[in-house]
Amino acid sequence: MAEETAKRKADHIRIATRSNVQARKVSTGFEDICLIHKALPEVDKDKINLSTTFLDHKFKAPILVSAITGGTTEAEEINAAIATAVEKLGLGMGVGSQRAALDDKRLERTFSIVRKKAPEAFLMANIGGVQFAREYTISEARKAIEMIDADALAIHLNPLQEVVQPEGETSFKGVFEKIWEITQALDKPVIVKETGAGISAEEAKKLEAVGVKGIDVSGVGGTSFAAVEYFRTKGDESANQRKLGQLLWDWGIPTAISIVEVVQTVNIPVIASGGIRNGLEAAKALALEASLVGLAQPVLQAAIKGVEEVEKTLEFLIEELRNAMFLVGAENLQQLRKVSLVITGKVAEWLKQRGFNIESYALRGRA
Ligand SMILES: Cc1cc2nc3c(=O)[nH]c(=O)nc-3n(C[C@H](O)[C@H](O)[C@H](O)COP(=O)(O)O)c2cc1C
Repeated sequence: MAEETAKRKADHIRIATRSNVQARKVSTGFEDICLIHKALPEVDKDKINLSTTFLDHKFKAPILVSAITGGTTEAEEINAAIATAVEKLGLGMGVGSQRAALDDKRLERTFSIVRKKAPEAFLMANIGGVQFAREYTISEARKAIEMIDADALAIHLNPLQEVVQPEGETSFKGVFEKIWEITQALDKPVIVKETGAGISAEEAKKLEAVGVKGIDVSGVGGTSFAAVEYFRTKGDESANQRKLGQLLWDWGIPTAISIVEVVQTVNIPVIASGGIRNGLEAAKALALEASLVGLAQPVLQAAIKGVEEVEKTLEFLIEELRNAMFLVGAENLQQLRKVSLVITGKVAEWLKQRGFNIESYALRGRA
């Protein structure tokens, strides 16, 4: 079982870095979020302050490397490279699902390396919601946290992936109740994250009500797990899975939409992720009042080349974000959350039909 999980993790890394597993016909929606340019920014670009506090932890910039991996030798190197870079830059990271190491202690070091390389950074443990519903208890949640001395536990929701995965676990009944149990029993904060298909307002509200302390929307527009699993299918026995992978390749709630749905519904911090690829998109997500921005695939791509490449990728992302903040006249993240923006196109249409207020964003700067 642990071997099978480790093999799956190795497949995921290979496929996500060598095949095109990005959304094809659906975008994140950030092209419909228009920040309003300021010809008079009245800001010294070099003095822009990107620091923030998330769940009582200080970040030098509002960036979290999303959960990616663990459980194989290659994953250990990837985790070490990411952890070293986030420690240096004062950011945070989530490890990938710790299931392989919970099943086989010998794989623990592929995860625990992150705390060794990042003694101060914000680190998030990771277990799938469906694992809790099927087999795990609070004991596994505690072990996952201890394994990396984590600051929080992320419970991931991946119904789309499980549908397309040949060995998928689709009995999701009871996942919500388990999340409730875990939030009550743990003394560390629980974050619930999707894995590329987004979270709606209704679900965010339910999660907040049972004590979840943060929501990572991980919407559609970036890495598609239907696509990743599509590339893992082989042979005639997986023909239906392959068809499902193609059918559901772009399934989900676009990231920009999911951010607004969740931010306007709950009072807990929201992490924006799913297809964020540059600092301008990061600025848009933060202007929509996300607390942090997360990226997986671009960081994985850099991490297979080594720590310097991860550092370069993250540093440039921060530089892009700083430039976007300059152009809208925001000296810090509080000001960025108050800049005017206009929502157009499919994002506006969706949000209006769902009863969300979009006019207030455009009027922010005119009071
Ligand atoms: C190779 C790979 C493995 C992943 N494994 C996990 C995982 O174990 N747990 C999890 O919560 N998310 C996992 N994710 C999902 C990411 O955390 C993220 O939500 C998703 O990839 C969307 O972000 P992106 O478009 O920036 O890649 C994985 C992503 C990739 C690319």
